[in-house]
Amino acid sequence: MMNPFLLKGYVGPEYFCDREIETKNIIDSIKNQQDITIYAYRRLGKSALIQHISSQLSRDYHFIYADIWGTNSLSELTRELANAVIRSTIFSQRSIGNKLKDFIKSLGTSFSISPDGRPSIDLMYHDRNTTFRGLEELMFFLEHQEKPVVLAIDEFQEIKKYDSVQVPLEATLRKLTQQSQNIRFIYSGSEFHLINEMFNTYNRPFYQSTRMMQLNSIDHDTYKKFILSHFKKGKKEMSHELVDQILDSTYRHTYYVQAIFNHLFGLSKQPKDWAGFESIYYEFIMEKGVFYSELPDRMTPQQFVITKAFAKAGKVTNPQGNEFLKKVGFTNSSSMRRGVQALLKKQIIIKDGSFYRLYDVFLEHYLKFNS
Ligand SMILES: Nc1ncnc2c1ncn2[C@@H]1O[C@H](COP(=O)(O)OP(=O)(O)OP(=O)(O)O)[C@@H](O)[C@H]1O
Ligand SMILES: [Mg+2]
Repeated sequence: MMNPFLLKGYVGPEYFCDREIETKNIIDSIKNQQDITIYAYRRLGKSALIQHISSQLSRDYHFIYADIWGTNSLSELTRELANAVIRSTIFSQRSIGNKLKDFIKSLGTSFSISPDGRPSIDLMYHDRNTTFRGLEELMFFLEHQEKPVVLAIDEFQEIKKYDSVQVPLEATLRKLTQQSQNIRFIYSGSEFHLINEMFNTYNRPFYQSTRMMQLNSIDHDTYKKFILSHFKKGKKEMSHELVDQILDSTYRHTYYVQAIFNHLFGLSKQPKDWAGFESIYYEFIMEKGVFYSELPDRMTPQQFVITKAFAKAGKVTNPQGNEFLKKVGFTNSSSMRRGVQALLKKQIIIKDGSFYRLYDVFLEHYLKFNS
């Protein structure tokens, strides 16, 4: 039997918890020809949600999923999109012949079979104009499909990091997307400030061009039911109270919840209570130490002190309040303010609703165990 708590990707609705309202809203938007931007902190489930949408969407649409993480230029973006098109339902086994040849020819490139046996194209444009034309051809191709196309571009904020003149790129993309009657766009990203800058700054090309949708953590009771039902199906015991406690201590941050229950599910005997859990969890967290040992090098000693205090406190509502200042041993609230700002910028801490906490839940637990 497979472990029902996935650590990556998407397998099907039975391993996917909730997101019913989000799914309905996104599918409604697609039907109403409205483009959408999904934004959320890392590891909350943006990519899985997009895959879930794809599985729930009627077959009247072609669905294309492109993850553009790590692309560095317009040329790489175009290549990633073209490969996503090739892997999509547009080229199902039967229709792969001439249609694919035409598509590839229109982009002015050749194609090869990648090591995983799938066709892939390797296009490298060298000058800017040809690259834009490649992108135009790609949109043109999608525009002329019989079925409407949903194009999901995950990690869209990456385009802001390309070392080209930014505004023309955004403007060109915006122009292309606006001309596309047959294509619905789903953008998604995790870096708030970049996404916000692109979609909510009035002089930027994408300003208010899409429906903005913030993804939050999954509701406590819904997640609890999901977890308990999978343990029951697997004929394994799981304490209700322990599920509550784990959901609380992870802030329901999806990846961390999944990782812990994946681990617990894999044990031959499940812990009965928090104390039993902690003794198992200690080793699990200590193993992560390799990721965290360099942390002090990434910050000033003072920032490290603040980080450890955050870990110890868990939720911090008012970092500059007397209570927290005392905990950290600061007398001066302005050095705390600077420290918190720096840590927010470094994405060590985040604002989660009404409080601040460490972004990486395992780091919080690691530092707790080590202090
Ligand atoms: N609704 C859900 N039910 C169950 N598991 C989920 C759900 N959403 C996401 N997951 C799982 O949580 C983990 C993180 O999800 P995902 O990779 O989609 O997050 P993300 O926001 O795209 O993260 P990143 O910012 O790292 O790209 C994955 O293991 C995924 O399988
Ligand atoms: Mg993702």
